[in-house]
Amino acid sequence: MNKTILAANWKMYLNEDTSIDFVKKMNSNRESFSKSEVILFPSHTCISQVQDNIDIENIKLGMQDCDINTKGAYTGAVSIHSLSGIDFCIVGHSERRLLYNESDESVKNKLETVINSNVGAILCVGETKEQKNDNNTFNVIDAQLSILPKDTINGLTIAYEPVWSIGSGDLPSNEYIEDVLSYIKNKLKSLYSDEIVEKINLLYGGSVDKDSVNRLLEVELIDGFLIGSASADFESFKAIAEKLS
Ligand code: 13P
Repeated sequence: MNKTILAANWKMYLNEDTSIDFVKKMNSNRESFSKSEVILFPSHTCISQVQDNIDIENIKLGMQDCDINTKGAYTGAVSIHSLSGIDFCIVGHSERRLLYNESDESVKNKLETVINSNVGAILCVGETKEQKNDNNTFNVIDAQLSILPKDTINGLTIAYEPVWSIGSGDLPSNEYIEDVLSYIKNKLKSLYSDEIVEKINLLYGGSVDKDSVNRLLEVELIDGFLIGSASADFESFKAIAEKLS
């Protein structure tokens, strides 16, 4: 069995000093992280410090977002080509979609940029509370996945993050998550060969912490977790990692 993926989306919680402090604590507690495949997503400005200070083999690094363009006159934007040693990039996080008005079209273009840069893309999908209450979850997921290229794709991970669960402590039931992940899996099977679908990991994100992770681990289709606030606090991230067997 593959190791459970723990993708730590630090959002804008940590600065340079606290990011370095975090990875130094990881170095001193490496055994706690031996049962998971950890991917850290620091702020762009802290990535190289994290790279320089991490001393555990196989810890992967990612960008929380990148620009659609890779070079040129785009003031303030960050190119995926400007950072070395990046394994993953998050694409279409709901905070980007909702707070920065990213459309499915721009998520599509960003996904292309990431894939063409040979970096693993973690595409986030998920419905708002209102969409859930209107029984529109599957329609929303369907539209968000409709941007995927047909026939073939490399290095794709899908993260199901119900918007209403992010930062709220309000979690879907395991059955609900299983239904949505099955829907996603079937959609992927309609686009790609079994061999490709087999390689696409499915993550769950939204209020994952050391308490909720126990029951979430019972969801068979979950390959790992995309964790926000609990991943930016060393003790709680360590406690989650220690729950994995
Ligand atoms: P929380 O774990 O803080 O709910 O955030 C989830 C998330 O948005 C991860 O990308």
